[in-house]
This record gives sequence, C-alpha cells and structure tokens, in this order.
Amino acid sequence: MTEAQARQRGGYAEEVSAERLAEIGLRFEVDGDIATITLDRPDKRNAQTFATWSALARIGESLPEQVRVVVVKGEGPSFSAGIDLRMFTSEGVPGQGSFSSAVKIGDAEFEQRIRQAQAGFLWLRRPEIVSIAAVQGHAIGAGFQLALACDLRIVADDVAFCMKEPALGLVPDLTGTKPLVELVGLAKAIDICLTARTVHADEAMRIGLAEKVVAGGDLTQAVQEKAAELLSTNRDAAVATKRLLQGARSRTLEEQSVAEGLEQATRLKALFP
Ligand code: ACO
Repeated sequence: MTEAQARQRGGYAEEVSAERLAEIGLRFEVDGDIATITLDRPDKRNAQTFATWSALARIGESLPEQVRVVVVKGEGPSFSAGIDLRMFTSEGVPGQGSFSSAVKIGDAEFEQRIRQAQAGFLWLRRPEIVSIAAVQGHAIGAGFQLALACDLRIVADDVAFCMKEPALGLVPDLTGTKPLVELVGLAKAIDICLTARTVHADEAMRIGLAEKVVAGGDLTQAVQEKAAELLSTNRDAAVATKRLLQGARSRTLEEQSVAEGLEQATRLKALFP
C-alpha cells in the first residue's frame, strides 16, 4: 500500500496526543467501531482555529481501521460558533497568525493553508465510514460547515444553523457549499448563505439539512441509536453502497447501472468464494 492510499484509508499517521488535542480544544475517543470527536472549548462556544482543522485532518489520517462510524459533537450549549474571531484582529490567535498576516504570505502558500484546513473536513466523507454530526445550539460558519461535512446530521430542537461568512465579507470555504446545495437545492442555499439568516430545527428538518430532530437531552441517545443501526449492516456492503451513492449524482443512469453491477460482482464473489 502506498503512503497516499494508507492515508486515504486511515490508520497510518501518528496519532495526535490527547494532551495536544486538549490544548487545541478537542477530544478524540474510540470505542470499538465508533469514534467520537468532541469540540471541547465550551467557554468559547467551541470556536475553531487552524490548529483545530490540522488536528481534525490528523485524526482522519490516523483513524483506526476498525472504525465504521465517526460522531462529531460539541461540548456545552453550542455545537460551534465558527472560526475564532481573534483571526479578525491584528493580534490573531497566538501561534497561528491572523487573517491580515495570512494574506501577506503569498498566493501559493495561502492556497496551501486553505487546502490543509479543508483536509480536516474532507475525510469525513470517506466511504469506509459514516460520519454523524450531533448538533445542538449554534452551528455558525465553520461550525455549520463541519456539520455539513458529515454524512448525517442529528440535531437538538434548539439548533441554529447560520452561514455567517458572507455577512463578514468571506465565502464559506471549508467544503460546505457543495453539500449545502446538494441537500437543500441551489435557491435555498443562496437564500441561507446570502442572507446569513438562521435556520432553526423545524426548517432544518423540512429542507433536508437534518435527518432527525430530538429534545436536547435526547441527542446523545439518538446518535447512539443511529450508530447502532448503521453498524447492523454488512461492513463491506455498506462501504460499497456508500461509494455507489456518492458517485450517483455525477454519473448517467447507464454509468451508474454499470457501477452497481461491478460492485455487486465483487460482493457476490466475496459472499460465495
Ligand atoms: N470566536 C472566539 N470566541 C467566541 C466565538 C468565536 N467565534 N463565539 C463566542 N466566543 C466567546 C465569546 O467571546 C465569549 O467569551 P468570553 O466569555 O471570554 O467573553 C464566550 O465565547 C461566550 O460567548 P457568548 O456570546 O457570551 O455566548 P452566547 O451563548 O450568548 O452566544 C453565539 C453564542 C451566538 C455563538 C455568539 O457567541 C456569537 O455570535 N459568536 C460569534 C459567531 C461568529 O460570528 N462566528 C464566525 C462565523 S464565520 C466563520 O466561521 C468562517
């Protein structure tokens, strides 16, 4: 296996220590085939920094191979209030700079930094896992995009999604625009982003942003139940089916039918060697 393939599958890179994660405001726990990532800076409403995104990417790279479900949740009243607003100040985030320093580093390096940040979100779509965002309270900007990076969103009835970036002169660039359009359609995505308005639980459910709404106190249990349901199917079939579903939009019906046949041939050979 090449290094790139190993990284894609996870279980290769060195894990980030629990102490380092705690400094960044993250927790990572693995229990059998379920991994849980917790944004753990509740006093700052789980605001995110470049260090958060690098650590998320490293968690993805070092994910133990047995993991099938990844839960992403936030400690405290809010899932995440988005990017740490210190990035907008001249002092920035200690050790991580600010937006005003970032624009001075040159286009190529800046692009590279954005790609590194996006890596923290992209791996959550891997076919080998199903990612579930457990979202309570505010999910703003980068917080909304982190929830969008997950395959499923189970939300508390106080959820408040907001794509704040355009109100701050930015675009959502943490991989959130594509899933948003795919989930709610172009018109609704334009409405949500270009007004930076808040989407509450009932609307989130109605427009397909959320799979399920529960009372806040029931969120953990609802996520556990969904994880158990997901784990009840055959692992290899689940991976192949997710791969098929992810490719369905970009293929013609004919191409998709061919892809289904190829995956099924592999499945049948595995089941009846
Ligand atoms: N960055 C840094 N600190 C934050 C952030 C943030 N994004 N959000 C909240 N905090 C801090 C507050 O400064 C406050 O700190 P303090 O206790 O030291 O004063 C603490 O978290 C609690 O915040 P409150 O505003 O008191 O909490 P409340 O529950 O009343 O409100 C809310 C929560 C609505 C999330 C509010 O904090 C807020 O609007 N935050 C900013 C959201 C934002 O604009 N994010 C950027 C989006 S764009 C992007 O992500 C790219």
